[in-house]
Amino acid sequence: MSNIPIIILKEGTEEVREREARKQNINAMIAITDTVRSTMGPKGMDKMLVDSLGDVTITNDGAEILDKLDIENVAATMMVNLAKSIDKEVGDGTTSAVVFCAALLRNALELIEQDIHPKPIIHGYKLASDKAIAIINEIAVKISKNDDKLLKDAALTSMNSKNIASAKEYFADLVLKAVKYIAEKNSGLVYDKIKNIKIIKATGKSLIDSELIDGVYIQKDKVNSSMPKILNEAKIAVVRKKLDVGKSTYDAKIEISSPEDIQKFLDQEKEMLMNHLQYFKNLNVKMIVNSQDISDKFGALLSKEGIAAIKNVGETDLKAVMNAINANLVDDLKGLSEEDLGYAKKIKFEKIGDDDYTLFTGCEHPKSVAILLKGGLDKILNTAEIALHDVISVLAKIIDTQSIVAGGGAIYMELSKRLKAFSAEISGKEQLAIQAFATALEEIPKTLIRNAGLDEIEKITDLRAAHKTSEDKWIGIDTIKNKIVNNLENGIIEPAELVKHIIMSASELSSLILRVDRIISAKSAKQ
Ligand SMILES: Nc1ncnc2c1ncn2[C@@H]1O[C@H](COP(=O)(O)OP(=O)(O)OP(=O)(O)O)[C@@H](O)[C@H]1O
Ligand SMILES: [Mg+2]
Repeated sequence: MSNIPIIILKEGTEEVREREARKQNINAMIAITDTVRSTMGPKGMDKMLVDSLGDVTITNDGAEILDKLDIENVAATMMVNLAKSIDKEVGDGTTSAVVFCAALLRNALELIEQDIHPKPIIHGYKLASDKAIAIINEIAVKISKNDDKLLKDAALTSMNSKNIASAKEYFADLVLKAVKYIAEKNSGLVYDKIKNIKIIKATGKSLIDSELIDGVYIQKDKVNSSMPKILNEAKIAVVRKKLDVGKSTYDAKIEISSPEDIQKFLDQEKEMLMNHLQYFKNLNVKMIVNSQDISDKFGALLSKEGIAAIKNVGETDLKAVMNAINANLVDDLKGLSEEDLGYAKKIKFEKIGDDDYTLFTGCEHPKSVAILLKGGLDKILNTAEIALHDVISVLAKIIDTQSIVAGGGAIYMELSKRLKAFSAEISGKEQLAIQAFATALEEIPKTLIRNAGLDEIEKITDLRAAHKTSEDKWIGIDTIKNKIVNNLENGIIEPAELVKHIIMSASELSSLILRVDRIISAKSAKQ
């Protein structure tokens, strides 16, 4: 018993044991799930989140909603963390994971109430989860990463349940192009590179005015307003040097005792700045990207020469630009040479929404793209951004793993059926646990049906009856068309990896909670 985890809560001083402890944790976790359950699927509802300052977010993304809740209960927080980890690992499927985990816990609690010890339940759940993964590996459909039709279907499936569903065709093509671009220009797993798709939000237009831009955006304006707005065929220097004349720049102490001295001082300052300028002019540099400051004076000199510049560029942006334009970072201007310079076909300074951006396009080694997301309202843009994150993740996962399953409950119904058959091979109380696991899998199609306002008992029995032979494995529900169909042929598909992750993470968390047999609350948080 010594390796059993103990949850320590801050409030109260009492100790809660055995059955009561489990019940408390499980009920808290089920309660938290109820906040997101009704958002699942194409007919799911949205939630309006209002923070303490009165700011409103409208969303139906499980991870987003759970993240914004102010929760004190430790077990409920673990459910939120489950959603967060799914969001990080696969980017979509967070609602499904918490709904499935809650179903596993509810079914386990029923078994506990029939005097079955948690140990065989935990063991049974592990057997069932391993078997479910093995079944997915066996039946998942292998696809080519160039199968654009299937990739687009997966993008549409992910978007069906989001607020951008009205523009889903448009975004499916746009996101597919973006992800394929990243896949082509970067090495390694695409999922690890999805941050190279930068989403820039611009209010004022409609969602279908959004565009894909092959280039690097940096949120910076040129240092001097009279610098050129557009540069063509530009050589670019990337430097880390304060382009200013500070106190430390002077070798000797300057004593000013007459008006001539002032002039001398100004001349000397100008000369130093002119020296700096000369390094750039010699190499015909048209654009300077500096991670440090550029003084107004130097900015004015540059602008007279028709050279543009941005200053105080942050590390991430600096790296993105250097990679794209193929430039080296230079600290000492004396060492600046032709090889250090980068190149872009076009550099443009533009205002998007309220913010100023510098855009580099036609670069030598473009590794990133930008989606210029347009929409009428801030709120729409924010929800659209969250939805795009899910779609981008789904496409990246499919390109990386090239393996899909049918959604709309199909995969969960098939797993449930096969696990029920598998349970007959296992003796002891574990058999009951595997059956409980199989029933919990049906909670996902049930939720899709319920959220669509359809008759739950009727449709779930229809689905069960439809899964007769292995030929029927992809039969699920389409709650948009309101039909029970082969969802693989119907184009409702998702990455096999996504479903595997949902199953593994949810069953691991349920077992962790079932192992807890005591909650010891500290006297007070401070003690
Ligand atoms: N036309 C459709 N009919 C029925 N189910 C669908 C349809 N399109 C998508 N789905 C299903 O909807 C479910 C996804 O719903 P949703 O996106 O709301 O939740 P999630 O992906 O689990 O979590 P989140 O997106 O909030 O991270 C998947 O099971 C998917 O197969
Ligand atoms: Mg989703």
